[in-house]
Amino acid sequence: MPNPNFKDVKIKIGVAGCGALGSIVCKALQEGIKGYEFVGVSDLKTPDFGVPNMSFNELAKNCDLVVECLPPKVVPELAREVLGQNKDLIMISACALLLYPEIYDLTQNSQGRIMVPSGALSGLDAVTALSCAEIESAKIASTKPPKGFKGAPHVVQNDIKLDDISEKTLLFSGNAYEAAKAFPANVNVAASLSLAGIGPERTKVEVWADPNATGNAHEITVKGGSSTIINRVENQPDPTNPKSSMLAGHSIVAALKKMTTQITAV
Ligand SMILES: NC(=O)c1ccc[n+]([C@@H]2O[C@H](COP(=O)([O-])OP(=O)(O)OC[C@H]3O[C@@H](n4cnc5c(N)ncnc54)[C@H](O)[C@@H]3O)[C@@H](O)[C@H]2O)c1
Repeated sequence: MPNPNFKDVKIKIGVAGCGALGSIVCKALQEGIKGYEFVGVSDLKTPDFGVPNMSFNELAKNCDLVVECLPPKVVPELAREVLGQNKDLIMISACALLLYPEIYDLTQNSQGRIMVPSGALSGLDAVTALSCAEIESAKIASTKPPKGFKGAPHVVQNDIKLDDISEKTLLFSGNAYEAAKAFPANVNVAASLSLAGIGPERTKVEVWADPNATGNAHEITVKGGSSTIINRVENQPDPTNPKSSMLAGHSIVAALKKMTTQITAV
């Protein structure tokens, strides 16, 4: 008996936030991803992806699955609508899980679920596999050009002169919760690693400023009884939003394809 899910039923999908990352997802959906019906978007601007622009409430009502590509501070509002209507949410702003713990509470009273794509990070597949056995330690070291940290609370509070940094310098070391407070705009990857591995309290984060760096690099080191995972990714800034990286947009498209492709690497 053929599985109807792969051939007949289409998942109704919408995208909230059509900036650098959301546009990558919208373009892919507009071109067509097997198993999905692109229903709508929600953005303050009027994006032109051939579907209507609607409120978070309407988007949740009309969709089975909503993709979030918003500024983190808007994520709780979207999560309330989507999970409140028992729909599923793909959340790229992983840092919102650390910054707004009420999002966890929303899942407790919902039949909807939250899926966090790998984003700008690599190696999470192995980390989730090792977490099924035992992980002893998990660390992420993120390196960016100094200007990438402009305005971060840790930089402002400690009066760090970013323009004076002439060599690779450690700006911060702490756990993922502390990193979220110190560098809220730079902790998506730390939040994703925490979720895949051993949680935010035990996940160590280092933040480095390197004047010779051209893009953003993230290196994870995860140790368990049976494996040591060392993985590094170097991302060039997204041309439309230098704070973002295109890999994060592609990771959402990949996650969507994984959910509807009959034979897939997971
Ligand atoms: N997980 C990762 O590895 C990773 C990597 C890069 C970026 N991110 C996160 O992804 C998110 C999106 O990044 P981006 O580069 O696409 O951002 P962006 O600024 O380019 O786009 C955000 C979009 O949201 C829209 N928007 C803002 N407020 C809104 C509201 N109230 N209602 C509807 N739309 C609203 C804006 O108009 C804009 O189009 C950010 O939170 C960023 O931190 C995650």
